[in-house]
Amino acid sequence: MEDFQEGELLLGQYQILSKLGEGRFGKVYKVRVLKGRNKGKTLAMKVAKDLEFIPYLWKEVQTLILFNHPHIVSMISYLYKKEKRELYVLYEYMDMGNLREYVSKKGKLEEKEAIKILSHVARGLEFLHSRGYIHGDVKPENVFGKRVLNSILWKIGDFGLMRIRGESGVIDIKGTVGYIAPEVFHGELHRSSDVFSLGCLFYYMLTGEELFSGEERLIKNRQCVYSLEGGFSDKAARLMELMLQREHRNRFKTAKELLNYMVKERLI
Ligand SMILES: Nc1ncnc2c1ncn2[C@@H]1O[C@H](COP(=O)(O)OP(=O)(O)O)[C@@H](O)[C@H]1O
Ligand SMILES: [Mg+2]
Repeated sequence: MEDFQEGELLLGQYQILSKLGEGRFGKVYKVRVLKGRNKGKTLAMKVAKDLEFIPYLWKEVQTLILFNHPHIVSMISYLYKKEKRELYVLYEYMDMGNLREYVSKKGKLEEKEAIKILSHVARGLEFLHSRGYIHGDVKPENVFGKRVLNSILWKIGDFGLMRIRGESGVIDIKGTVGYIAPEVFHGELHRSSDVFSLGCLFYYMLTGEELFSGEERLIKNRQCVYSLEGGFSDKAARLMELMLQREHRNRFKTAKELLNYMVKERLI
C-alpha cells in the first residue's frame, strides 16, 4: 500500500499531519481530527501495511477495546471499510515517540530514569498478566512516551502478537530477535517470557546497546548467551540477572512479582 501524503484527508475527517513510523504490521500516521466527537484532537492512526496483516491489527482492536490503563496506549476508535477491506485504528498520540528513538537521542539512561521507565512498563504488563494475557513483543519500539506536566509517562503499545495464557496452537511469529525469551524458540510462552524481554529492555536503557548483538545475535539469543557488563549498581545488576534467567521458572513469574521485588528492594 502506498503511503498517505501530508495534508491528505482520510475518510472525510482525518487530516494526515505526518508519518510517525512503520512497524511489522502497520504504518502509523499523526492525524488531526476535523469532525465528530474527537474534533480538534491530534491522534495516531495505524493502517495495516497489507491485507495479510489485517488479522493482527484486528486482534489488537479486539483486545485493546477491553483495556483502560494509564500504562497501556489507549485505542480511541476504529473503522473497518468492508468493501475496500481496510482497517483504520486510532490511538492516543504519544508525543515523545518510542523508547528506541528516545534512547538514541539521549544516549544511555541514568539508572534512576531506567528504573522509572521499567516500572511504568511493568505496571502495564501487570494489568495484562493479571487478566491472563501475554504481550509477546516487548521491545523499545513498542514502548511509548507522553509528556505529562514536567514528567514523561511511559506506556506499552502494539498488541499484534498478544496471546492468551495457555492458548494452544503453533506460535507462528515469535517476537523480535534480541528480545525473545529462550523457551519461546521451543514453542513455549509464559507470562515470564515478557519478563525476560523486559530484562533485555532494561539492559538496553542502561547501556544504549543490545544485550544480544552482532552477527550471531540470533544464536546468542536462542542459547541465552550474554555478559552483564556495564558498571551497573549491585541492585540493578541483581534485578537484571533475575529477569534474564535462562530457565523461565527462575524468573519472576509475572510483572506483578517483579514490581513486588522492586518495592521490597526500595528501587521504586
Ligand atoms: N500512539 C502512537 N503515538 C506515536 N507514535 C506511534 C504510536 N503508535 C505507533 N507509533 C509509531 O509507529 C511505530 C509502529 O507502531 P506499532 O504500533 O509498533 O506498529 P506495528 O504493529 O506495525 O509494529 C512505532 O514504533 C512508533 O514509532
Ligand atoms: Mg511494533
